[in-house]
Amino acid sequence: MKDINKDKATLCVHAGAESKNPAYGVNTPVYTSSAFGYLDTPETPYPRYFNTPNQQVIVNKLCALEKGEAGLLFGSGMAAISTVMLSLLKAGDHVVLQNDLYGGTYHFIEYELEKFGIQYTFVSQADTANFEAALRPNTKLVYIETPSNPLLKVTDIKAVAQWAISKNIVSVIDNTFASPINQNPISLGIDVVIHSGTKYLGGHSDLSFGVVITTAALKENIYRSAINLGGNVNAATCGLIERSLKTLALRVQKQNENAQAVASFLQQHAQVRAVYYPGLESHAGHALASQQMSGFGGMLSFEPMLSGLEETEAFMRKLRLITPAVSLGGVETLICSPARTSHSKMTAEARRTAGVKDELLRVSIGIESAEDLIEDLAQALEKMKTHKVISQAAL
Ligand SMILES: Cc1ncc(COP(=O)(O)O)c(C=O)c1O
Repeated sequence: MKDINKDKATLCVHAGAESKNPAYGVNTPVYTSSAFGYLDTPETPYPRYFNTPNQQVIVNKLCALEKGEAGLLFGSGMAAISTVMLSLLKAGDHVVLQNDLYGGTYHFIEYELEKFGIQYTFVSQADTANFEAALRPNTKLVYIETPSNPLLKVTDIKAVAQWAISKNIVSVIDNTFASPINQNPISLGIDVVIHSGTKYLGGHSDLSFGVVITTAALKENIYRSAINLGGNVNAATCGLIERSLKTLALRVQKQNENAQAVASFLQQHAQVRAVYYPGLESHAGHALASQQMSGFGGMLSFEPMLSGLEETEAFMRKLRLITPAVSLGGVETLICSPARTSHSKMTAEARRTAGVKDELLRVSIGIESAEDLIEDLAQALEKMKTHKVISQAAL
């Protein structure tokens, strides 16, 4: 499909597809080969060279959705993140990162970068001045993630991107929570967009992959290390990714609507202390999110009026439809306690400083009926009243 100015729903279905394949099938055939002939072709495909037909179809589709020039497909989100860092940074360089980051990214920075002699500074994303304050003569890269996990903090993408341009620094964003349907950072000046495709892009909680979308020039830099680090994905997975992407816009649209309805329900509930969702006017990042996002996404967090991890877990066990599980972005609604999962390696005090209370619950909203999700939360909140009475009586 040549016209990339089509609506995203159309791009999801058609962009990147091979214009003609041997049997004229409407889906790209899965080329299972890891060996391809080289005599009659200018570029021989090979999986770890990131250039097989199935890899390219997906990258082209995602370039159309993210408004990027070129990209690479990896075996996981962390393979994408680590390859970007290790390809664009070298010993003696410095990187500035926002401190609200996916836990795995945080661990990668803390555990790996020093080994390579790369310095780093974490800053609060609340103000671009914090990034400026951390600037050093050797700063080469700035890394943000918005909305963030688990408090859905919103970073000013355009401000950070403009600042990075003015300092000649590469800007990188993890756009996983928003998906390309709700947020296009390249249009706001960002250089490199990363996704854990394991989440919304895959969308069915059954795939692991990662994506980098960027300029043609930066892709070449990242590519040079990517072929050495070898984090590519296989052809069978590519076939499933292409199928998943065809319904991305449809799924995300429904997740946006459901999340807004569930957040509004929770906000007015007497048994709920706080709700974090950028689509709520009460959310600190609402105005900014309204400018830079076309939908507020399917992720929200809330604190029921409970006390401690045990009561919070008891609440999750009372849910009948919403499933306590890690990960996010799938068609089914999942709930988890960040204190027990993504933030469990932090000390209780560090968690409190980060605003992650023991009672905080993160919800990845799926595509079920919003009414059914609300009913499930309502019945579990109601049951907790009796649970509290019984446990207090037992004391
Ligand atoms: C925001 C974000 N970025 C990156 C990752 C890493 O992705 P993967 O698990 O596919 O390596 C995750 C995983 O949870 C994530 O939530």
